[in-house]
Amino acid sequence: MDASSPAMNVLAQTAGALLRARLTAIRYAAEGIHRYEFSAVDGGALPAFTAGAHIDLHLPNGLVRQYSLCNDPRETQRYVVGIKKDAHSRGGSSYVHDQLKVGMVMSLGAPRNHFGLHEEARHTVLVAGGIGVTPIACMVQRLRALGASFEVHYSVRRREEAAFLEVLSGPGLHLHVDTEQGGRPLPLAGIVARVPHDAHLYCCGPAPMLDAFEAAAAGRPAGHVHLERFAAASSVAAEGGFTVQLARSGRSVFVAQGCTILDTLRAEGVAVQASCEQGICGSCETRVLAGTPDHRDSLLSDEEKRANQVMMVCCSGSKEATLVLDL
Ligand code: FES
Repeated sequence: MDASSPAMNVLAQTAGALLRARLTAIRYAAEGIHRYEFSAVDGGALPAFTAGAHIDLHLPNGLVRQYSLCNDPRETQRYVVGIKKDAHSRGGSSYVHDQLKVGMVMSLGAPRNHFGLHEEARHTVLVAGGIGVTPIACMVQRLRALGASFEVHYSVRRREEAAFLEVLSGPGLHLHVDTEQGGRPLPLAGIVARVPHDAHLYCCGPAPMLDAFEAAAAGRPAGHVHLERFAAASSVAAEGGFTVQLARSGRSVFVAQGCTILDTLRAEGVAVQASCEQGICGSCETRVLAGTPDHRDSLLSDEEKRANQVMMVCCSGSKEATLVLDL
């Protein structure tokens, strides 16, 4: 994501606001995947979102999880998320599948977007693997509404696991079913090599797919390759040994070895919004006023990391003795 990305203006969105929403429908989407639909408790319009956005779901068990919105961004009365029950769930997806019931009222974070579409692109290539299809389904609806040129490559292991085909089906969809291709994965290198050089490419899926996509797209222009991870790509910075100056309050806090900036701020009673705490959701994005962060998140592009204007304080540290933040 480059600095001029439509998704860059995260801080200007309604970060921090919690919505009360009712779970109005649960539907089967594919094997192991359900669609969950939420509406405002008062029946009014929900905050608008853009294709690629996600919401934080505040679960009754205290966990907060991020899920991509997969409905048409023109819809104002509902949010739809697709959730796969993860066999290794740490209490998020298994709780959702086993405990949530239609009619429950829950808190949602307002939509945020770190995976925004460049709607002006001459051609767009969307690549989805497994449950990574959820933001891609939203993007397809937006691109169709724009009349834009696009293609979708959706990879699943088995046909029964393919979700949102009712949305994706149509010109431009290429469904790749591993078991029907002799177990071969999506031929990413060939796909990327074929598309025009000025196309924008997006990928959401499991880590091996994202790594292969990044490698295949390595020669593409900066800012034209976009991906969204479900899990952190690197470990958090907990080396410590630096001071964080909080410009608004004039306070300074020392980040000790073994602690993240977020840990330290919390211990000092400084309120900072956070959710995933592994650099993949953007909740804790904070402006950097001076110093050089040691970026460890999976959200900012290389260009954004070099610019050092913002950082994720949940996982990133400092390369210098002092860091000044807009807190
Ligand atoms: Fe999610 Fe920091 S809390 S990126």
